Amino acid sequence: MASEKRNISDIESTVNSVSHFILLSFSSSREIQMVYFVIFSVIYMLILMGNAFIVCAVFWDRHLHIPMYILLGNFSFLEICYVTTTVPNMLANFLSETKTITFVGCFVQFYFFFSFGCDEGFYLCIMAFDRYLAICRPLHYPTIMPAHFCIGLVIFGWSCGFVLFLIPVVLISQLSYCGPNIIDHFICDPVPLIFLSCSKTHTTKFIYSTFNTIFMVGTFIFILMSYALVINSVLRIPSTAGKHKAFSTCASHLAVVILFFGSVMMMYVRPGAEQPVGFQKVVTLFYSIITPLINPLIYSLRNKDMKAALRKLLLTKMTFPKI
Ligand SMILES: *[C@@H]1O[C@H](CO)[C@@H](O)[C@H](O)[C@H]1NC(C)=O
Repeated sequence: MASEKRNISDIESTVNSVSHFILLSFSSSREIQMVYFVIFSVIYMLILMGNAFIVCAVFWDRHLHIPMYILLGNFSFLEICYVTTTVPNMLANFLSETKTITFVGCFVQFYFFFSFGCDEGFYLCIMAFDRYLAICRPLHYPTIMPAHFCIGLVIFGWSCGFVLFLIPVVLISQLSYCGPNIIDHFICDPVPLIFLSCSKTHTTKFIYSTFNTIFMVGTFIFILMSYALVINSVLRIPSTAGKHKAFSTCASHLAVVILFFGSVMMMYVRPGAEQPVGFQKVVTLFYSIITPLINPLIYSLRNKDMKAALRKLLLTKMTFPKI
């Protein structure tokens, strides 16, 4: 009886014995870690620069103060926040000997990364909806999309992920972790976290994957429907050149959407399904780094007004210290 009691108290004392996690990242020799460090630093700088250009262009150019560009500017700023939740930590990790992250730090990263990611999904929806209104309902566009509605959408896009993602973060951080504490990934991802837990995780897995499925399938279908309606009305444009241009814009937007949602769905619709860790890391690279890198190119360099604004920005703002 006494020993049983002691066992129980032993178990209780080990329940949250994990005070930190170890993020293995892309483990390899020191030299290769340095190469990774350089490559990811360059990519990070490119992401910051590309998106910051768009934010500044929208901010400074009054021609761009219309819903489409206000949404795009906010989306680019969101991308900066999104990559900043993971990449600086990842870079520090390449240089670190121990590769540790505190328990709280891990969940803070998880919460912010996925909340911003969720916001990205909403922004892609809002931007698709905006295109649908502008192209399919051009006469009603000014009445449906007045300034205060646009501001409402902007606030909705920023806050929704933060509210929704409280659910999985609270659920997963309530699980007990009694070791091991090694995460074979470069971010604090919920999938390996759930696998590390020593609690019963069936319910958590079920709720988490249902949550993800509803969110991702819902937003993805919304976006596809918006673009389907856009393409449908583009088909009625009489001029071939206009048709061609509208088509190529839609196709490039859809490519981004499919890249982002495709990789996210592969990871999170069935988090119970065990995929090889190497595969998980590559898929995660797609939505955490590659989409923020190519989004500015796709959304702005294919666009005449945006290119003009960027050129103006480069000529006026960047060259002012004339000697
Ligand atoms: C984001 O949206 C707000 C509200 O509409 C707008 O005032 C602001 O300029 C936008 N930010 C950027 C960087 O475009």
